[in-house]
Amino acid sequence: MSWVAGVVHSIIFPGSGAGSQLALSHGPPNGEAQLTIHHRRSLLEHLRDQLAVDWWGHHGIAHWARVRANGLMLARDTGANRHVVELFAFFHDARRINEYDDEDHGARGGTLAKRLKGRYFDATDDEMDLLAYACTHHSDGMTQADPTVLTCWDADRLDLGRVGITPNPKYLGTKAARTEASMAKANQRAEAWCDAFDERRRRQG
Ligand SMILES: [Fe+2]
Ligand SMILES: [Fe+2]
Repeated sequence: MSWVAGVVHSIIFPGSGAGSQLALSHGPPNGEAQLTIHHRRSLLEHLRDQLAVDWWGHHGIAHWARVRANGLMLARDTGANRHVVELFAFFHDARRINEYDDEDHGARGGTLAKRLKGRYFDATDDEMDLLAYACTHHSDGMTQADPTVLTCWDADRLDLGRVGITPNPKYLGTKAARTEASMAKANQRAEAWCDAFDERRRRQG
């Protein structure tokens, strides 16, 4: 397993092993249980197989892993629904058709989530509404919304370091994301990936 794959694996599948094969249920309030390891893996395999952009590129699995990590970090302070945060990380860019201007990719990601609900994960109607809204509007630059939605958007924006952009606190909707500690942690994740990404490109010539 490459270094990048190893990092992604440890972010997305922490503590995998016996006892992780729980029910498909979305779990207790606030989505605390999130996806089981088994369903997360199956879902990600499905998303990988239909992805139109580079799985290891700027909007691929490593980005999703960091958005998930950023979102769950912020959720400790914002009280966001962790299940929605995780699903957002996996779906918001899953239907991109290019790495640049792709206006409706968020809405398409939300539609895909609706299609796959019940097959790889379950969620309440409220959770699906939040997920669809968060996916659809994640690149609209908004900073006012439900705390779970804002947490999703900030988790994505905090990963701008991967393309050499320092997130502007003005465009972050939660207080938790605007702290020096959150921004530093997210940048650290993004920069570590940039080094690995450059190295991979160099090796590929
Ligand atoms: Fe996006
Ligand atoms: Fe994104």
